[in-house]
Amino acid sequence: MAWYEDESLWEVFYDCMFDADSFALAKTQCPQILEMVGHPVQKALDLACGPGRHLLGFATYGIECTGVDLSGYLLSRAANHLEQADLPATLVHTDMLAYQPTEKFDLITNLFTSFGYYPNDEDNQKLLNLSHQWLNKGGSLVIDTFGKEQLAHTMEPVHVTEYDNGDLRFERPLLVDDMRVFANEWILVRGEEAFRCEYQHFVYTAQEMRHMLQQAGFTDIRIYGSFEGDAYDLEAERLIAVAHKD
Ligand SMILES: C[S@@+](CC[C@H](N)C(=O)[O-])C[C@H]1O[C@@H](n2cnc3c(N)ncnc32)[C@H](O)[C@@H]1O
Repeated sequence: MAWYEDESLWEVFYDCMFDADSFALAKTQCPQILEMVGHPVQKALDLACGPGRHLLGFATYGIECTGVDLSGYLLSRAANHLEQADLPATLVHTDMLAYQPTEKFDLITNLFTSFGYYPNDEDNQKLLNLSHQWLNKGGSLVIDTFGKEQLAHTMEPVHVTEYDNGDLRFERPLLVDDMRVFANEWILVRGEEAFRCEYQHFVYTAQEMRHMLQQAGFTDIRIYGSFEGDAYDLEAERLIAVAHKD
């Protein structure tokens, strides 16, 4: 089983990964994404939508949203959030590569470091190729992840995050396999209990990401360092790739 197929990981870490602040943040990111792509969006597909943070944000603009995710647990959380907000979206429980859309989209997103999880380059490239096929002409793909340059610049041997609910998360990150793979260990201390998990995924430089997007057929590829549209440099908060389908 791949690490991301382990439902207990998403259940245990849900409260710190997807707290109220993260939902508020996603709400501000949606209009920023729409501004970055710069064209009207009627139909959007969020690949690896998790608990639906961005589906909620896009649906408030009247955009017809579809979210795809492999985790039944996270999709049930997404369904609850959408119901509470009285917003519509179609949720599809499948691996992204197995998804078979019956329509095309104006916008496809893959957000909050959900790219590079497949354990080989071919499948990660395949996701970009399929995204290109699934877009309408004139549509855009937006990937939000962190970049290898940024990681190499800021990575600490141990990093501790304290959450409002008192949880402490210790991280022990490494760049391995010729610095192609980000391998991280999380130890969550919650009250008297501790939970541990390990995960890894490919990380890319801006140039590598650009090349993969070009291979998939995208044009007008722009790389930003934040949702505010800052340059991707050593101060970058994120690596955000915006790619266009002619
Ligand atoms: C870090 S979470 C991000 C969730 C969401 N994009 C957000 O911004 O809240 C990564 C997500 O990727 C999903 N995922 C991982 N591998 C997947 C796959 N092969 N197909 C579909 N979803 C996948 C996980 O279930 C999880 O929801």
